[in-house]
Amino acid sequence: MIDEKILHVFKSNRNEFISGEDLSKVVGISRTGIWKHIEKLREIGYEIDASPHLGYRLVSVPDKLISTELRWNLGTKFIGGEILSYEKLDSTNVLGYTLAEKGLKEGAVVLAEQQTKGKGRLGRSWISPPKAGIYFSCILRPAMAPSSVAQITLAASVGAAKSIREVAGLRALIRWPNDILVNGRKVCGILTEMKAEQDSIEFLVLGMGINVNTDLKDLPEGATSLKAESGRDISRIQLAKQILRELEAGYITLRDAGFASIREEWKMLTHMLGSRIKVSIPAREFEGQAIDIDKDGSLLVRLDNGFIESVSSGDVLIVR
Ligand code: BTN
Repeated sequence: MIDEKILHVFKSNRNEFISGEDLSKVVGISRTGIWKHIEKLREIGYEIDASPHLGYRLVSVPDKLISTELRWNLGTKFIGGEILSYEKLDSTNVLGYTLAEKGLKEGAVVLAEQQTKGKGRLGRSWISPPKAGIYFSCILRPAMAPSSVAQITLAASVGAAKSIREVAGLRALIRWPNDILVNGRKVCGILTEMKAEQDSIEFLVLGMGINVNTDLKDLPEGATSLKAESGRDISRIQLAKQILRELEAGYITLRDAGFASIREEWKMLTHMLGSRIKVSIPAREFEGQAIDIDKDGSLLVRLDNGFIESVSSGDVLIVR
């Protein structure tokens, strides 16, 4: 909290020196205390000038997804209320799940600069090279039935697509259920895991991975990054903050107003409806035309014999 207060003073007085005395008054700790915190911030990667006569000045902030940067002007009510950032984790979903079992609060976010065992859907892995992407998991404790989880993940995919459009200026589209594609290639995936009883959810771990400034050579076939598609570096901090804001907005809409408006937004952001698709579910594969998503978020597919099949999990590919 002290660190956040000091950074707040610096950021509200861009490029100006602030005396140790002024900082100590505003933050409410001694000048020695201020000095200790400045040292700590420098260790994290903040570049801070110190002048015996003028005081301290913030020169640059680290390009790291850390709490002090993410929470600055975040403006959410509870998503990101607590942000735990790590240099390296096996998987933010795995740590998120363990901490949620121990009581980590709704809205808490676990983030890593790199994952060594990033988890994807359907037992796949998520390649998570250091400092290039955004890899995080958010703990949610919705008062909903386990059958509504798909709606939350769909709401999150709407939020991710909107954020990518806004921050990177790219035409992000959703492929059911919750992959985000740019120019037909995947930039973002979501993996939601939960602990639940038959009728109630104890918690959800909503994990999201985004290839932001990732080199194409580090990514699997069929994947791309926002940098590769836009030709410029995209601010991971700005994008991560926007995603947290949109995640909260979507979650609150869902909770207070139900799935209808999320469903409409999802439909506006997908390129699939009307297309012929191939569906792969664990036991079989089939083709048909994607026609809609239903009130639970399942994909409705019209088969060639006219029968409409509702698909609640699996993979889809547009065939034409
Ligand atoms: C998919 O498209 O298969 C889902 C990918 C989800 C990846 C994210 S990265 C952060 C979080 N931690 C994980 O281990 N997985 C998710």
